[in-house]
Amino acid sequence: MKFFADTADIADIRDLAEGGLLDGVTTNPSLIHKAGRNFLEVVAEICEIVDGPVSAEVVALDYATMMREAEVIRKIADNIAVKVPLTLDGLKTCKALSDDGTMVNVTLCFSANQALLAAKAGATFVSPFVGRHDDNGFDGMDLIEDIRTIYDNYDFGTEILVASVRHPIHVLQAAKIGADVMTAPPAVIRQLVKHPLTDKGIEGFLADWAKTGQSIC
Ligand code: E4P
Repeated sequence: MKFFADTADIADIRDLAEGGLLDGVTTNPSLIHKAGRNFLEVVAEICEIVDGPVSAEVVALDYATMMREAEVIRKIADNIAVKVPLTLDGLKTCKALSDDGTMVNVTLCFSANQALLAAKAGATFVSPFVGRHDDNGFDGMDLIEDIRTIYDNYDFGTEILVASVRHPIHVLQAAKIGADVMTAPPAVIRQLVKHPLTDKGIEGFLADWAKTGQSIC
């Protein structure tokens, strides 16, 4: 499963990239607001740090303006994935951009039928939001399972990008189902390494090592 960081924070992106934990980045207008930076500048900087796909979102709602915004966004770098909302105009934009060789991430997916439409429109990625789904009383992972089944039934090439990931269990469940990608805040990615027995083991080994009176270098 590929790991994307769901952030526009350059320090976090650099740190995760250096640790080899990053296959791409997703941003959205809220994350750009949080970063407090110019949209085009910060996205360009992210594209230089990360080789994999970097999603940057249009904010228009109609096809013509989405296409105009996409023209600006896709010129930022070769690894840009234009993010469009899961609406009829968004799907039309997805089709036009995909036919033209641009990666597209269709976002704000909350149903398997929506994901089916995204695949038919040629999306590179579809982003089902599991955390927000859970928040509203549904099981986000049921949605991922349904999309996996449908995409496998018809051999769709669209990658399932599990989004709105809130905790390590989401990552585990998505991996077991066979999602292609997950995007999570850097803090959640770092949480994946944590296990109390690992910490306890290190503590025990270091205590015994100290008793040997030796040093390695
Ligand atoms: C995905 O691309 C979105 O940016 C993101 O995962 C949304 O997550 P949230 O529900 O935590 O805002």
